[in-house]
Amino acid sequence: MVPLLAEKDGVMLAIEVDGLTKRFGTFVAVDHVHFTVEEGEIFGLLGPNGAGKTTLIRMLTTLTPPTEGSARVAGHDVRRDADGVRNSIGVIPQALTSDPELTAEENLLIHAKLYGVPANRRTKLIRDLLEAVDLTRFAKALVGTFSGGMRRRLEIARGLVHSPKILFLDEPTTGLDPVSRTNVWEMIDKLQESSHLTILLTTHYMDEADKLWWRRSLPMSRPIGKRR
Ligand SMILES: Nc1ncnc2c1ncn2[C@@H]1O[C@H](COP(=O)(O)OP(=O)(O)OP(=O)(O)O)[C@@H](O)[C@H]1O
Ligand SMILES: [Mg+2]
Repeated sequence: MVPLLAEKDGVMLAIEVDGLTKRFGTFVAVDHVHFTVEEGEIFGLLGPNGAGKTTLIRMLTTLTPPTEGSARVAGHDVRRDADGVRNSIGVIPQALTSDPELTAEENLLIHAKLYGVPANRRTKLIRDLLEAVDLTRFAKALVGTFSGGMRRRLEIARGLVHSPKILFLDEPTTGLDPVSRTNVWEMIDKLQESSHLTILLTTHYMDEADKLWWRRSLPMSRPIGKRR
């Protein structure tokens, strides 16, 4: 059997991006981006508002087709094998998308059902996920009463319901106070260490990119798109 993941210097590559470009008319939102992310790595994309971070994530998660270039996610080509990509990833979008009128538990249950988690596995899965993001005490609380940081942590848990290999987080800490940002970071670290997840996240905070750098991950330290 041929391994799906490409190998570079003995390291398996979870994401390979080769010249990925997105144009909206004549406007270039993402301009020939190249990078690779190793399996089990936390990889950061740093860029200011409008740099093209979300557009890049949308291409990698098969929500919008690239204009040019190619990318493989978990060994699957984003153009030719969208289902293969989708089955391997969890996506936590920039906007908060949990339902404020449901409890934390109910939000996770809906996703477990949507992703076909068998009924007899759901209770334990939800308990484990809430524990992983430190929200056990709030399982039965309405999400509408949560702080931004708590909602973000719940959404990270929701992105893990179907045990993806790769997690995409679009600006997981934007708009959070410093304590909540630290909590979210601790969560991301813990998840990566305990489950060997590959994590690609975006940020516009320099200090977060520095932290990634310090961890020997590879931030993109410049805007990734430009106007022509
Ligand atoms: N569907 C679209 N049609 C036209 N232009 C778009 C579309 N989507 C994004 N853009 C433009 O592409 C550029 C990059 O947008 P994108 O949302 O990817 O940036 P971003 O880095 O995620 O910004 P932010 O930090 O504000 O979230 C922006 O100038 C945006 O206006
Ligand atoms: Mg964005």
